[in-house]
Amino acid sequence: MARLHDKVAIVTGAASGIGERTARLFAEEGARVVAADINEPHAGVLAVRADVADPASVEELVATTKERFGRIDVLAHFAGITNDGRAEKMTLVQWDAVLRVNLTGTFLIAQAVVREMSAQGGGSIVLASSRSYLGNFGQANYAASKGGVVSLTRTLALEFGRYKVRVNALAPGFIETPMTAVLSEKLRAKAIEGTPLRRAGKPEDVAQAALFLASDESAFITGIVLAVDGGRTTGTAPA
Ligand SMILES: NC(=O)c1ccc[n+]([C@@H]2O[C@H](COP(=O)([O-])OP(=O)(O)OC[C@H]3O[C@@H](n4cnc5c(N)ncnc54)[C@H](O)[C@@H]3O)[C@@H](O)[C@H]2O)c1
Repeated sequence: MARLHDKVAIVTGAASGIGERTARLFAEEGARVVAADINEPHAGVLAVRADVADPASVEELVATTKERFGRIDVLAHFAGITNDGRAEKMTLVQWDAVLRVNLTGTFLIAQAVVREMSAQGGGSIVLASSRSYLGNFGQANYAASKGGVVSLTRTLALEFGRYKVRVNALAPGFIETPMTAVLSEKLRAKAIEGTPLRRAGKPEDVAQAALFLASDESAFITGIVLAVDGGRTTGTAPA
């Protein structure tokens, strides 16, 4: 049996990278996928243009999903941005933009879907943190946003457990997507060198972990942050 048989899943960030691969994998595993992105998504049975940082747009995405499929079983939330720079030179515009999409956007969409999930008796929410939450040079805004996602995940897991809604996060390491394609070859090589499995991650690696957390195979798991980083975190900090 397909691992997401009959489930309705919203996948955000679905026009690119990890989100796009996740939308395709979920569809292959039997889900009815609503692919959402600020850009035009091409995966999923229903493609919706949505800005996760805009409450009205998020409400519309949830309403459209309900109208079409009647329920929401899974949220896999991968919409996110970077805007790197060293902290002493970082502008407030850079800071606000990243916090707004990565942290406020995560809160807004989790809040909107839990209302549906609690009414229907359960669901699974998978959020995107990052290994950067441990601290990453040149990413004060991004690291703080992804640390916020960890705290949010743990808090929502505590609050939503009573509704049988599970909330977990993924903390990917260096994954080859359009987001990391802009980084220098030197940085890429350094990341691989620090990775025990000696390679960069692929969107597929993260999508498979998202599938596990979305599916009933993880039915008794909530509030965790699952590293998908080829072992890079091991030995440097608590996983
Ligand atoms: N690539 C990595 O190495 C890596 C590592 C750790 C965490 N992550 C996280 O995984 C997620 C996916 O990253 P990716 O590498 O696939 O990036 P990506 O840039 O390839 O895809 C991100 C998608 O999010 C969409 N998006 C941006 N702002 C949005 C908004 N306001 N509303 C809706 N959609 C929006 C973009 O249009 C894009 O399609 C992000 O949250 C990222 O922070 C990535």
